[in-house]
Amino acid sequence: MNDILPEQTSVWQWVEGVAREILEGSGYGEIRLPLVERTDLFCRAIGEVTDIVEKEMYTFDDRNGDSLSLRPEGTAGCVRAAIERGLLHHQQPRLWYAGPMFRHERPQKGRYRQFHQIGVETFGMEGPDVDAEQILLTRRLWRRLGIQPVLHLNSLGTPACRQTYRAALVAYFSEHADQLDEDSQRRLQSNPLRILDSKNPALQSLIEAAPKLPDYIDAASREHFDGVCQLLDDAGVDYVLNPRLVRGLDYYSRTVFEWITDQLGAQDAVCSGGRYDGLVEQLGGKPTPATGFALGLERVVALVEAQAPERVPAMAPDVYLVHQGASAQRAAFTLAEQLRDGASALKVVVHCGGGSFKSQLKRADRSGATVALIIGETEAAAGTVQVKPLRGQGEQQELPAQDISREVLALLGRAPAA
Ligand code: HAM
Repeated sequence: MNDILPEQTSVWQWVEGVAREILEGSGYGEIRLPLVERTDLFCRAIGEVTDIVEKEMYTFDDRNGDSLSLRPEGTAGCVRAAIERGLLHHQQPRLWYAGPMFRHERPQKGRYRQFHQIGVETFGMEGPDVDAEQILLTRRLWRRLGIQPVLHLNSLGTPACRQTYRAALVAYFSEHADQLDEDSQRRLQSNPLRILDSKNPALQSLIEAAPKLPDYIDAASREHFDGVCQLLDDAGVDYVLNPRLVRGLDYYSRTVFEWITDQLGAQDAVCSGGRYDGLVEQLGGKPTPATGFALGLERVVALVEAQAPERVPAMAPDVYLVHQGASAQRAAFTLAEQLRDGASALKVVVHCGGGSFKSQLKRADRSGATVALIIGETEAAAGTVQVKPLRGQGEQQELPAQDISREVLALLGRAPAA
């Protein structure tokens, strides 16, 4: 579980801001959900024999003896809320959420026990259009952020064809049981599809030769998937058809996708999701098709830092105000408020805590500010200010206090606000 320090939050805030803009711009409304739910909700939604439910949840009994869990993901809670709060009656909500999720996984680069997702869920739309819409939303986000993950796409078909496929896999892997590792032996009966996800190099040729899911999916699911691909082709989206992409949560049906990167080591999924048409009914709602995805903010932030750090807007102040002496301090406070109130809303830090001009100017430089404004007793008495550009934009000069805003904007390369 990480502390995210101020020097890191500038990237976080930028990524979150761009994501919010794109989601709201396509008609998605934010939903804020509890961090805890009844444990049973996650067991039913994600599946009893998934890694998350079997070994990764932070589960505790509250004072009433109810078993609660910190949310390991957002879809289950969102479906619960949609059912309980009547969001599904004659509506087709497009929802998004952001916040921390908790999984007791073995931590490594890109994998944490408290991590952050931005997620999206839609309800009531069964066509391939909304699947494609969500993939296009994510592509728009990567473009704005300047990162290039690769899209992997698959269709899982309906639960019925997954059952047939499951049986074929069990038969195949049982024949080769002596070659399976301990994890896969265990999954053979409980969740054989997950064997396909194994990263064990010794298993790769066995997995390669296993029955392929696309050979088992029904005609309607195939048509749906063709519809998704067609819309993506029209929009010029590149993708890899990956028949081994099965996802680690049980609720998926039909389209599943992951945006993958080779820049972050073993934790290569930046964003994952798909369709889960059966889940609402399974959790007690009326049958309602649904689709969604979630991106891992830690991984997206790491990718931005690796691939496009220059895009992150600077969070430094515009101005650092340096002053010495009682009347200079008062003049500095008055000037700072004027600059903040002005139409251009300059970002101003006033030095607090005393110190020599020299030490104050060192702090001004370290703050990243573009300009230092200096007020001593002489300037305070004369109603002037020393303007010192900090980023090599010319010489220090003394100007009347009322001219400061215009001069600072010129040094920032910004036009004065009308
Ligand atoms: P998920 O694949 O479990 O899907 O997680 C989504 C994303 O969260 C992953 O692609 C990854 O970027 C990030 N992530 C997952 N676990 C960790 C971790 N331990 N540390 C850092 N990042 C992590 C879901 O959670 C589904 N609810 C997505 C969804 C929404 N499907 C339909 N609607």
